[in-house]
Amino acid sequence: MKQGKSVHELFDLTGKTAVITGGAGLLGYKHAEALMEFGANCVLVDICKERAEELASALTAEFKGEAVGVCSDITSKEDIERLKDTVIKRFGSVHILINNAANNPKFEEIEKKKDCGKRFETFPVANWNDDIAVGLTGAFLCSQIFGTHFAGQEEGVILNISSDLGVIAPDQRIYRQDGLPEEEQPTKPVTYSVIKSGLIGLTRYLATYWADKNVRCNALVPGGVYTGQNDVFLQKLTNLIPMGRMAEPDEYKAAVVFLCSEASKYMTGASLNIEGGRTCW
Ligand SMILES: NC(=O)c1ccc[n+]([C@@H]2O[C@H](COP(=O)([O-])OP(=O)(O)OC[C@H]3O[C@@H](n4cnc5c(N)ncnc54)[C@H](O)[C@@H]3O)[C@@H](O)[C@H]2O)c1
Repeated sequence: MKQGKSVHELFDLTGKTAVITGGAGLLGYKHAEALMEFGANCVLVDICKERAEELASALTAEFKGEAVGVCSDITSKEDIERLKDTVIKRFGSVHILINNAANNPKFEEIEKKKDCGKRFETFPVANWNDDIAVGLTGAFLCSQIFGTHFAGQEEGVILNISSDLGVIAPDQRIYRQDGLPEEEQPTKPVTYSVIKSGLIGLTRYLATYWADKNVRCNALVPGGVYTGQNDVFLQKLTNLIPMGRMAEPDEYKAAVVFLCSEASKYMTGASLNIEGGRTCW
C-alpha cells in the first residue's frame, strides 16, 4: 500500500528556487541543469556577470522553470543581502542554497605554478586570504543569510560542495615535473585542503544548528572532473582511483537532485562521496 509521496514525487522540485554560487562555472551550471530538469527555478550567482546571464538564458530556454544570472561577490555581505532581496522579490522565496563557488585551481595552473601552485613554505598570505574569502567566508555568509531565511520559513536545504581532497590529503607526487628542483615543484595549494575540509565541518555545524527548523545541510564530495588534463597527469591521478578514471561533468547531477530534494529528507550533516572510490585507498 502506498503511503505518502511516491519516490518520483520526492525528487520533484517544482516551485522551488535554488541559489547556486559559482553558477557560471563548470559544475555550477551542471547543478542548475539537474535542478531545473526536476522543475526548480535557479539563480546563477557569479562574479562573471555575462557568463552567468548567458547560461541562465540557455537554461530558461531549455526547461520549464526560470533561471536568472546575478552578478554578486560572495565575499561581500552587502552583495549577498542584496542578492537575497532580489531573489525573494523575483521568486517569492528561496528553498535551496548550493555553496559551490571556489578559487578552483586547474591542473594547468598548478603545473605553471601560478599563485595556486605555490609551495607551502612560500605560500603568500594574500593568496591564503583570497582563497579562504571565497571558499569558506563566502559559504559562511551565504549560509548565514539564506539559512536564516530558511529557518524563518522552516524549510530549506544547504548543499556544500567539498572535494575528495576535503577527506584525504592531496598526493603531491602527481603534480611533480621531471627536472625541476625541489623548491620549484608545483603542488596542490594548502588552501584547497583547508577549505574543502572546513566545508565538511560547516556542514555538520549547520545540520545540527538548524535541525529543529527543518533546514538540512549536507556535503557533496566529488572527485576530479575531466577537463582536458594531459595524459601523463591523467595516468598518475587515475592510478589513485579504484575505478581507474576521473568523472564526467554530468556524473554529479543525480546526486545533487537527491541531496536538494525531499528524496534525502532524513539526511543531514552527511557527506556523500562520489569519487570513483578514491577516498577508500
Ligand atoms: N572540477 C573539479 O574537478 C572539482 C572536483 C572536486 C570539487 N570541485 C569543486 O566544485 C566546485 C565547482 O568547481 P568548478 O570546476 O565548476 O569550478 P569553476 O572554476 O569552473 O567555477 C567556480 C566559479 O566560481 C566563481 N567565483 C569565484 N569567486 C567568486 C566570488 N567571490 N563570488 C561569486 N562567484 C565566484 C567563478 O567565477 C567560477 O565561475 C568548486 O567548489 C570546486 O572546488 C570541483
